[in-house]
Amino acid sequence: MNWDEAIKITEEFVRQNLTGYDSGHDWWHIDRVRNVALFINEQEAIADPFTLEIAALLHDSVDSKFSDENIDLGYSGIDKFMDKTGLTEIKEQIIEVIRNVSFSNKNPSGNLTDPVLLIIQDADRLDAIGAIGIARAFNYGGFRNNVIYNPDIELSADNLEGKRQNFTQSTISHFYEKLLLLKYRMNTLTAKRLAVERHEFLEIFLKQFYKEWEFVTGVRNS
Ligand code: ADP
Ligand code: NI
Repeated sequence: MNWDEAIKITEEFVRQNLTGYDSGHDWWHIDRVRNVALFINEQEAIADPFTLEIAALLHDSVDSKFSDENIDLGYSGIDKFMDKTGLTEIKEQIIEVIRNVSFSNKNPSGNLTDPVLLIIQDADRLDAIGAIGIARAFNYGGFRNNVIYNPDIELSADNLEGKRQNFTQSTISHFYEKLLLLKYRMNTLTAKRLAVERHEFLEIFLKQFYKEWEFVTGVRNS
């Protein structure tokens, strides 16, 4: 099977697997991560482009928020798919990348300096900030039925109450628990550069958000 065919078949596999996910994890997220990952690699030239593209396509095929049983099923599905598609040679590497890519993965293991992993982490994190990141956050918050903002909740990366309860109390809190930290977690120089504008946009958004929020409460209180 040639390169283009393998990519096409992987795209189809991913599209079939994604049904049932929240729309922040839809096909277009995968497509953006793939494109940004390939762009980063064009600048950095550190990863094999074919392996990188396959890994980008598969990176969200197993969600750590699933039950253990479904996680095992997810990995064995990828394992079988890759053998069937003639990708056995890169199978172990790809599965390791999928295991390690998530921001929320607290037990990373294996080769944490694989350039494929570093680039996909960057592309995935870039998609969580900027205008698109904001859209995804509020989309996810709606999916979870979270409030957009609650002025009584402490906003900080180590909001102890949020940590203890292990859930985000408002979508604005998610900015402080994750989104505003991502700029500092980029691996490649290219991603660090791309993160600057997107991070600034988060700050502009928050500033305007509080301005409008306080305008309304200010009028009511006066
Ligand atoms: P990852 O797989 O990188 O750990 P997640 O699956 O946790 O990422 O998140 C996917 C998307 O949903 C991201 O855009 C992230 O910012 C958003 N998201 C995750 N948790 C929350 C939350 N509690 N509130 C709002 N957005 C969230
Ligand atoms: Ni992703």
